[in-house]
Amino acid sequence: MKVLVTGGAGFIGSHCCVDLMTHDVEVVVVDDHSNSSPLALDRVAELAGRELASYAVDVRDPAALDAVFREHGFDAVIHFAARKAVGESVEMPFEYYDANVGGLLNLLRTMRAHEVGRLVFSSSCSIYGDADEVPIREETPARPASPYARTKWFCEQILADVCARDSAWSVMALRYFNPVGAHESARIGEDPRGVPNNLMPYLTQVAVGRLRELSVFGDDYPTVDGTGVRDYIHVMDVVEGHRAALERMDAPGFRSLNLGTGIGTSVLQLLAAFTQVCGRELPYRIVARRPGDVAELVAAPDRAARELDWRSRRDVLDMCRDAWRFQQRNPQGYESA
Ligand SMILES: NC(=O)c1ccc[n+]([C@@H]2O[C@H](COP(=O)([O-])OP(=O)(O)OC[C@H]3O[C@@H](n4cnc5c(N)ncnc54)[C@H](O)[C@@H]3O)[C@@H](O)[C@H]2O)c1
Repeated sequence: MKVLVTGGAGFIGSHCCVDLMTHDVEVVVVDDHSNSSPLALDRVAELAGRELASYAVDVRDPAALDAVFREHGFDAVIHFAARKAVGESVEMPFEYYDANVGGLLNLLRTMRAHEVGRLVFSSSCSIYGDADEVPIREETPARPASPYARTKWFCEQILADVCARDSAWSVMALRYFNPVGAHESARIGEDPRGVPNNLMPYLTQVAVGRLRELSVFGDDYPTVDGTGVRDYIHVMDVVEGHRAALERMDAPGFRSLNLGTGIGTSVLQLLAAFTQVCGRELPYRIVARRPGDVAELVAAPDRAARELDWRSRRDVLDMCRDAWRFQQRNPQGYESA
């Protein structure tokens, strides 16, 4: 099987490439490196024990993407390439619609021209917004609360419409909850540019001395200890879910599936788990709630278990241990090399 991975140099994409390549899948990467280091792909090749073809191409570029499809006959595509910072999407909505919706449309056009119909799409739990019910099922009404979340929701609608008309398509939208952690080798991991938007890389950067203290955004939510509760999931579990999806894409149509653990962890609980792993207390301060944040997002993961025969296997301590090991060995991220 030969698979195109867009955004394959990014956090989740790089782990996905290693997982696929170590399971006999041939991988080709397209990434414009707008949010990743090309060094990540060297590490992917090193871990997989073989080379992979990669192209520094923007998925919105019709001619460049077409040339990649002409050179390779793909059986399927995994589409990670997107912009993903919620706050930034409020500041620059056009850029988010252009990259995320525009990128998907060009990809679909190119796939159709080359008769490639199997697609795994990176969706997000952010489409649920402030959900009425927890745990969140796929049927829980979507209430996307930011331009970023709306790009993901609109992409899902586009994919559902396209699949409804044409049985040549088989599409799975995987709605990730909060992917964290790193490959156990500590050779690849999460290496955000600038100040991290997410809790785990923030914690690891405080622990390694790059940031002074953790800001906890709000302690008056209606949760176990007042801080926000999320469903953290190990990135290796997430990418194993993609491999399971690829193996089950024979039927035409559109499906959306939650990829989560079903277990909620508060900010302070994650801080405690991380403290246990890194062996010392980290400075933190409670500050005001962050606009757009919700109290609790936890998945009901049953549909993915049923339809993909997949379940997350790693716990919060595994996530903390692997994220911390990557940060320790790469204090400045890939550029430490
Ligand atoms: N990390 C999360 O918490 C999370 C949660 C839910 C959904 N997602 C989605 O999963 C996907 C992967 O996320 P990630 O955390 O690995 O992000 P990432 O930023 O690390 O990876 C995305 C990759 O895509 C590339 N890219 C961006 N725009 C591109 C374009 N126009 N053309 C080619 N390449 C482009 C970037 O350079 C980067 O390497 C994204 O679609 C994201 O929205 C992520």
